[in-house]
Amino acid sequence: MTAAGQRHKNLLKRLAMMSTLERNHQKSHRGRPGPELVRPGSSPHWKSTGKTEARAVMSTGDRQSIHGQWSSRLAFIMAATGSAVGLGNIWKFPYITGENGGGAFVLVYILCVAGLGIPLLMAEVMLGRRGRQTPINTMRTLAGEANASQGWQLIGWAGTLAGVLILSYYSVIGGWTIGYIVHAAIGDFSGLTGDGATSLFGDFVGSPLAQVGWHTAFMAITIVIVARGVRNGLEKAVTALIPMLVVLLLILLGYAMTTGHFMQGLTFLFSPDVTHLSGTSVLTALGHAFFTLSLGMGTIMVYGSYIPKDTSIAGTSIAVAVADTVVALIAGMAIFPIVFANGLAPGAGPRLIFETIPVAFGHMAGGTLFGTLFFVLLLIAAWTSAISLTEPAVTMLIENFNVTRRAAALWTGLATWLLGFGTVLSFNVWADVKVLGLNFFEHLDFLTSNLMLPIGAISMALFAGWVMSKTMSREELDMKSEAGYALWHVLIRIVAPIAVSIILLHAIGLY
Ligand code: TRP
Repeated sequence: MTAAGQRHKNLLKRLAMMSTLERNHQKSHRGRPGPELVRPGSSPHWKSTGKTEARAVMSTGDRQSIHGQWSSRLAFIMAATGSAVGLGNIWKFPYITGENGGGAFVLVYILCVAGLGIPLLMAEVMLGRRGRQTPINTMRTLAGEANASQGWQLIGWAGTLAGVLILSYYSVIGGWTIGYIVHAAIGDFSGLTGDGATSLFGDFVGSPLAQVGWHTAFMAITIVIVARGVRNGLEKAVTALIPMLVVLLLILLGYAMTTGHFMQGLTFLFSPDVTHLSGTSVLTALGHAFFTLSLGMGTIMVYGSYIPKDTSIAGTSIAVAVADTVVALIAGMAIFPIVFANGLAPGAGPRLIFETIPVAFGHMAGGTLFGTLFFVLLLIAAWTSAISLTEPAVTMLIENFNVTRRAAALWTGLATWLLGFGTVLSFNVWADVKVLGLNFFEHLDFLTSNLMLPIGAISMALFAGWVMSKTMSREELDMKSEAGYALWHVLIRIVAPIAVSIILLHAIGLY
């Protein structure tokens, strides 16, 4: 397409968005609490009309998402925190910290969150709010506006795919938490020894059929919420669940302090021994910083597309990153003392919390109650994150294939559910089927966390730093301090792409 043709197409899109804005505006004046889902296809708003033509001079920052909008700044913070805080913080962070030797890994992870995670979070929210569409269409529109290659859309496609890939294994682990709520509640943890916990977990994951059942249960509760939409489903779910989660974590931390091994846990987490650090450990820490903040695949872009125009992007991004990191560190501080108090192995892998936690609760007064609470907590955290993982795919189906939100949720759920069988089998029948030393689940995790997320994140950084004009990013971020903006711009334009490339190439062995 010629550049002029492209510009024309974008103008039409922009106009289309504006007519949506108008309709939403009228709606909210009919006494409704706010904008809600307006489907493309339910009315011809992809065509421009004479009426909207006159508004073409409006700033593009006034685009509105057709999928709805958060009711407030706090609702966005809650939803983004709900997405960020999940199995990544409570299941994955402790086990990869254990596998990578503790302190030094934690230090690199914190540096990655602060130096790369926060600026990238801001960039992704910004792109989403500017584009106000699904990641694919947002990148298409923004690339068009900057007269850049339509190849930038690939960020959207790759991210949408990454979301489905991650969710396919996320749901299996989410299913474990449901199964473990049942085990805890019926008292299976009481008096459990290390060996007992190992065989409990072995029996649990050993049956592919039962695993498919738990995985199905998890996918089902996720898809039900997703099908109900932004205002009705997501927001209500997260506002109720996040505060509960924090309370339950603090109860666990309180218990850890009584184990007598609290200091040992703190030393493991916070005294860095850099000699433990390999190139792959650094890449794992980086990949996890993106994973835990839900960065690099468009989740945050979609959530950003629902935020009100006047929300401060910097403030909310920092709040989300801090909350997410605090939760991971509390989880680590709660889990490692329990690991050491019971002579368990920090490097046990994905089964770490499923083998160590039950032993701890099995020896604790009130362990049945606390053990059940713990896995309820984990389920809640996993659930809100899983909901967010579906958003790019679901909104893409709605925008590009003209289906209802419910149908989009079902199709995404079905594809993810089927793909999840690979992970189910990775813990039993296919456990030892390895290619290049990794089984199906391990490949999926490496491919998504260590490759797709970092590559997605640098691509967004390059777009926000080099392709998007400074005028536009400055206007969109609207930061109070010019120095803050300048720092962000350098981090996004120079530091993030270079640091991420070096870490990636070094781990792959090219550097
Ligand atoms: N951040 C979540 C966790 O730590 C998982 C998650 C949700 C995610 N959305 C994402 C990871 C998008 C990567 C990309 O459990």
